[in-house]
Amino acid sequence: MLFRKKKGTLPKTEELKIPAHVGIIMDGNGRWAKQRRLPRSAGHKAGANNFRTITRYASKVGVKYLTIYAFSTENWSRPAEEVSGLMTLFKEYLEEALRDFMEENIRVRFIGDISAFSPELQALIHEVEEASAGKTGMVLNLAMNYGGRAELVRAARRFAEDVKAGEKAPADLSEEELSRYLYTAGQPDPDLIIRPSGEQRLSNFLLWQSAYAEFVYFDILWPDFRPDDFDEALRIYSHRQRRFGNV
Ligand code: FPP
Repeated sequence: MLFRKKKGTLPKTEELKIPAHVGIIMDGNGRWAKQRRLPRSAGHKAGANNFRTITRYASKVGVKYLTIYAFSTENWSRPAEEVSGLMTLFKEYLEEALRDFMEENIRVRFIGDISAFSPELQALIHEVEEASAGKTGMVLNLAMNYGGRAELVRAARRFAEDVKAGEKAPADLSEEELSRYLYTAGQPDPDLIIRPSGEQRLSNFLLWQSAYAEFVYFDILWPDFRPDDFDEALRIYSHRQRRFGNV
């Protein structure tokens, strides 16, 4: 699909390929706060606000699936105060989603082991999923308590359970079949993964699904990552040649 950008940083005539599925690793909130001599919590707050901006923008330009890495399985090891601040931000966002965000045509889904969250947060997660289930626009996957390795272990266990129950045979396992046991079952693999803050690694994000994703990193901290930067990622993506192992 092509998107013709009318204004902004791009030449008027440039045609952009809009990836069906974009993944974003929100990174750099802590450094953003440190640069301003603010507590890390202020960085996460700014990051959460930017998450809203970029999510809406991605939906506007026609992205069909957006997966955002909000909290990894490793993030629990941060100081208790920081973790509880992040939980508050998640709760605020989910309450806002139920209140206002539902006017937008975005379907919100969660990927990751949400059973580790408080019963209150889990209830909100279910409410938001149910309330947005009928939306026909962009699917927003929020990766919370998510880790790519944990997801693969979960998939292997679930497949083994099905074998034990006599519903599957070991020989049924193929790449396609394994994909059906992932949180992202039924969704296309990500085409583009964006990581701000200068780091150039996947950090356990969508390990299986990103096998052929184009990776674009930015030397910009997440709270400063603007829709124009998203456009720049689309421009870079549009010029990449994807060969999927072919010549
Ligand atoms: C990485 O920056 C960011 C996180 C671990 C948390 C991301 C969460 C939010 C932006 C909060 C709200 C999200 C939603 C969905 C409402 P970092 O702290 O690792 O930054 P640093 O590497 O500069 O320290």
